[in-house]
Amino acid sequence: MKAVILAGGTGTRLKPLTYWTNKHLLPVGSYPMICYGVTKLRDAGIRDIIIVTNRAALGSFAEVLGSGRDWGVSIMYRVQEEAGGIAQALELARPILSPKEKFVVLLGDNLFEESLRPSYEQFMNQPEGAMVLLKKVEDPRRYGVPKLDATSGRIILIEEKPERPLSDYCVTGIYFYDTEVFDLIGGIKPSRRGELEITDVNNAYAQSGRLAYLEMTGWWTDAGTFESLEAAGRKLNGTIA
Ligand code: DAU
Repeated sequence: MKAVILAGGTGTRLKPLTYWTNKHLLPVGSYPMICYGVTKLRDAGIRDIIIVTNRAALGSFAEVLGSGRDWGVSIMYRVQEEAGGIAQALELARPILSPKEKFVVLLGDNLFEESLRPSYEQFMNQPEGAMVLLKKVEDPRRYGVPKLDATSGRIILIEEKPERPLSDYCVTGIYFYDTEVFDLIGGIKPSRRGELEITDVNNAYAQSGRLAYLEMTGWWTDAGTFESLEAAGRKLNGTIA
């Protein structure tokens, strides 16, 4: 299985830090943020990684990670010229992915404790569709929030940053897909903020009853705001998986 780490975007909520660097190169504990996703994948046995990032940051990513050799992985890079949304960034990885092979996507600002191996193995046994990892959070309104069907273990619907959340769960930025995802990306339209939203793609799977989920047990945080970046630094101080 290959992996895609999405590390483009504008990092708006972390300005002024992100005026001079890409969010995913900011220090978390003793390492640039991007290193944590890479090691989580490696430790789950997923060693072929595609990183999608913006043009200005590409050279710095290559300085930190190079070909991946020193990190025990193989890395290829794709450039997202403009921040057109998570689904648009994912589409850029398509030419490098195998036409029929399932893959995993990590949002580069998601940091977490548990191993990806059990979820990876579970998804390999799922005949078709997609699977997302969920986490119970205090304020779901900041995230994609799922409505769950616990009997079937499927997601019925996801609302992006809802005023009145349908559950206490957040859809984390850890997504497992079959290759139909690219047809579904082709079928969605830009949202009101002009982006191709990953939530619309996931809802297309959900509508046909093919969006499975697993709940994460260890800690999880995104690191896209000053508060969460600081919290992540405290959790990961001096450690890398
Ligand atoms: O962290 C989980 C949340 O991530 C989910 O619950 C939401 O459903 C999902 O939409 C996303 O929400 P955010 O508002 O946190 O997304 P953000 O724009 O911060 O982007 C998240 C990551 O995706 C970030 O690490 C960079 C990458 N990205 C984002 C955009 C918009 C790209 O690579 N390219 C892009 O154009």
